[in-house]
Amino acid sequence: MEELRILILAAGKGTRMRSEKAKVLHTVCGVPLVMCVYNSAAKLPNQGLYVVVGEGIDEVKQVFSDREVFFIHQAKQLGTGHAVMTAAEQLRSHSGSLLVLNGDMPLVSTAILKRLADFHKEAAAAVTLLTARLENPYGYGRVVRTVTGEISKIVEERDASDLQRAILEINTGVYCFKIGTLFEALDKISTQNAQNEYYLTDVISVLTAMGQPVAGMVAPDPDEVLGVNTRYELATIEARVRASILKGLMESGVTIIDPAATYIDATVNIKSDTVIYPNCILEKSTRIGSHCTIHAASHLVNAQTADYVTVRESTVITDSTIGEYSTVGPFAHVREHTCIGSHCRVGNFVEIKKSVLGNDTKAAHLAYIGDAEIGEHVNIGAGTITCNYDGVHKNKTIIEDGVFIGSDSQLVAPVRIGKGAYVAAGSTITEDIPAFSLGIARGRQVVKEGWAQSRQKPNKPSIHSDPPAKPDK
Ligand code: UD1
Ligand code: CA
Repeated sequence: MEELRILILAAGKGTRMRSEKAKVLHTVCGVPLVMCVYNSAAKLPNQGLYVVVGEGIDEVKQVFSDREVFFIHQAKQLGTGHAVMTAAEQLRSHSGSLLVLNGDMPLVSTAILKRLADFHKEAAAAVTLLTARLENPYGYGRVVRTVTGEISKIVEERDASDLQRAILEINTGVYCFKIGTLFEALDKISTQNAQNEYYLTDVISVLTAMGQPVAGMVAPDPDEVLGVNTRYELATIEARVRASILKGLMESGVTIIDPAATYIDATVNIKSDTVIYPNCILEKSTRIGSHCTIHAASHLVNAQTADYVTVRESTVITDSTIGEYSTVGPFAHVREHTCIGSHCRVGNFVEIKKSVLGNDTKAAHLAYIGDAEIGEHVNIGAGTITCNYDGVHKNKTIIEDGVFIGSDSQLVAPVRIGKGAYVAAGSTITEDIPAFSLGIARGRQVVKEGWAQSRQKPNKPSIHSDPPAKPDK
């Protein structure tokens, strides 16, 4: 089998994004542009996958931290041709073909890349271009052909004449090169163009001048080879990807009530017979079990739910897990590293952070639970606060099985409430409570009988005295 190596160009800044972040790091449904390209390319059998990095080098490398790729550092971004020249040292001596592709074309499929590689082998050309015919080719390099239909060169939008701009066939930014001739031709390109850059596309005219065969393959679906240069293009492409993610989920048995108002990353997994209401956002490694209901306007980031979980309206869950048959929300905030057991209830205006809730535990209304270990069958009354922070350290609250915390209590950490104990409503608990005891820590009530009447102002009618007599008619 002929050797194939793959080179992804990902060093550019992406000036048209107007961003501090390198363009290829911008995401489509949670996946960085360059990763979308990698995912399709890496499925081709190959002898090595190389990524040219430069702008945002550390972050781009980070994206590939658990993948096997070779990095090529393009310290100065002098154009796509220069990006490939930078790879000369690592690639020049190899035989076989090099598939070069831009790192900003997130919809490109493995199938089309494979077809191009196969076509290239058949054609025995020095280069095979993947081209496409677009209704609106604005911004792309145009493929210039001779009268007999042979490709003679690629002209960039900014260097093109009006006549050339009218050409609808564009360069997609995917090429299959014979490695030896590629680097020979690259030695001959210059920066004499509108952008003063080394254009990879100039290699085409150099190859034709060298008498080398240049082939082209037209992509049957022009949509999948679109590049992202602006945030508007990013949003347009993301909408397309989002629709296909939702379609896939629906086909696998998930009910999406309003696909136009639902935002689910490509990295999210949802089991069948789950219902997603409108305006929900599900991101990162969120995993939803089957028979769950995620009500409107909830935002789940890296949340894991078992089966039969209900997330009520306007709930935020981040980096946390929810056990089966539990209900969270409406208006709940489950923050990082929280583990909620099964059959739990976390109600409105409850915030939980770095805490464990055992099975059958309830915090139904208005509570802050931070750095707490809570056992099973615990009832957390309305208005309970774990005072976990003393201004310097975060301290733990431990609430053992079967505890009842009365409403409006503060548990000043570190503190332990023993198994089966009760905390009286309105208590400020500062000391441990032994198992099966009652902790009560609040001011005693004093009743002063008749007090209100005694402070009544003279001549002023009051609800505390008889109403004044009605005047005579
Ligand atoms: C490029 C092509 C154009 C084609 C279009 C398809 C050139 C000169 N033009 O234009 O013919 O129609 O793609 O989308 O190649 N990059 C580097 N180093 C650099 C410059 C760019 O690695 O010095 C990378 C970028 O990160 C990006 C890719 O190369 O992933 C393409 O660069 P971009 O500036 O987007 O090229 P276009 O102007 O879109
Ligand atoms: Ca581009």
